[in-house]
Amino acid sequence: MAKDRLIIFDTTLRDGEQSPGAAMTREEKLRIAKSLEKLGVDVIEAGFATSSPGDFAAVKSIAESIKDASVCSLARTTHSDIERAAEALENAVAPRIHTFIATSPIHMEYKLQMTPDEVFEQAVGAVKIARNFVDDVEFSLEDGSRTEFDFMCRVIEAAIAAGARTINIPDTVGYGEPGEYGAMIGRVIENVPNADKAVFSVHCHNDLGLAVANSLSAVMAGARQVECTINGLGERAGNASLEEIVMAIRTRKDIFPVETRINTEQIVPVSRLVSTITGFPVQPNKAVVGANAFAHESGIHQDGVLKYRETYEIMKAQDVGWNTNRLVLGKLSGRAAFAARLEELGIPFETKAEMNEAFMRFKELADKKREIYDEDLQALVSEVQMGDTDEHFRLISMDVATKTGRAPHAALVIRSHGNDHEVEADGDGPVDAVFKAIEKIAQSNTDLKLYSVNAITTGTDSQGEVTVRLDREGRIVNGQGADTDILVASAKAYLNALNILESPDRLHPQRDGV
Ligand code: KIV
Ligand code: ZN
Repeated sequence: MAKDRLIIFDTTLRDGEQSPGAAMTREEKLRIAKSLEKLGVDVIEAGFATSSPGDFAAVKSIAESIKDASVCSLARTTHSDIERAAEALENAVAPRIHTFIATSPIHMEYKLQMTPDEVFEQAVGAVKIARNFVDDVEFSLEDGSRTEFDFMCRVIEAAIAAGARTINIPDTVGYGEPGEYGAMIGRVIENVPNADKAVFSVHCHNDLGLAVANSLSAVMAGARQVECTINGLGERAGNASLEEIVMAIRTRKDIFPVETRINTEQIVPVSRLVSTITGFPVQPNKAVVGANAFAHESGIHQDGVLKYRETYEIMKAQDVGWNTNRLVLGKLSGRAAFAARLEELGIPFETKAEMNEAFMRFKELADKKREIYDEDLQALVSEVQMGDTDEHFRLISMDVATKTGRAPHAALVIRSHGNDHEVEADGDGPVDAVFKAIEKIAQSNTDLKLYSVNAITTGTDSQGEVTVRLDREGRIVNGQGADTDILVASAKAYLNALNILESPDRLHPQRDGV
């Protein structure tokens, strides 16, 4: 039987970015967007254009460079939000405006302080405004899973009549249960008289660990778009994970009446890229993209897999892009090989100076580390591009002394606003000493919420990738740094977080205003 196409709507760059600390720069978002295009997603939600000038610029750059996917911006139901989204999407090949308003009693009463009739008018008005700018308009009923059924059908019917092509019914707070949520989607499709004029979409959060199950249940009930993110990144416990949805549909072809156009071999590379850029590590036992997802530890399993792979494996590691951690470059590789590999990875450089800087750093790294992998290149480029954003603090040099029985001591030279400052401190450990020394100049008034080190590749010569999460009066940022010396990586990550804190904060689409 011919299968329907399931539209994969990736919202890593919008909902994913709403995870505390996951904010990305324009360059980082563009890199991820290009890999999402290669992965074959149908729609890339590039951001919330109104939220900040930086996010506007990111949506605009993505709209200008992506040719093989629709590019979408989120907008609340106000005229100014929708106009801003349209402006950012002006040069997109296939622009989509995604406008939303909350429709559940609890959100209407306490958050919006609007009556259902006012929400209805606002929703319909927003779809009409958006249709003045683009043909492809998506309308979401925020907190859809807790919305009263008749009101939901009324709003949806009117939104479709006003020109919405996609209707999204999110499980915003992750409250849905698969049987109930799927049944609700099926009932809505059956009850809305003009349902055949729109694609029904779902957007599930993972607060109870049910986001993927809820999304798949909705697909069985007739939803033909799933909104999801790489590695399940997203607000709070995250969104439905793209890789799990796609591989479930592909592996259980016998059950699901749909197919996607995802190039599954790109899944692991994109997962790694998102993890490197956001500093959110992937848990080892995460389905599909976790380091253990295809590792067979127990003797019985190994024996079975060696005799006949299908005894314990339902997917092939190569099909999702494992083993692509290939050696790309080494000490003797020249500029042309370096540039060619970056091009293959879809890494853009806007200026020759940026390229020269990246090549110089590559040579420095190749002196310390014999084998350079794609992940090393991604981390290196992140650092070069980070240098483009307003840099208030930069590590110039560092000397850390540790000896058994003595407090570790760190002495650093930090450049701040063009001046070099020598700072030093003792600490409870070497990382603590480094951070205390930095604080002597930064005096950031922040709380350290998270410190983590990850090996980028395997082997003891691997670069350590450090994530530092800082909280200043409720504003949370993640900084990253990579180096073969994890103390240097730690200092870079801390300074990166401080630099991000110096940039303006952005609006949150669901918590700020209508
Ligand atoms: O979770 C949610 O409801 C959202 C909407 C803005 C689609 O992210
Ligand atoms: Zn969401």
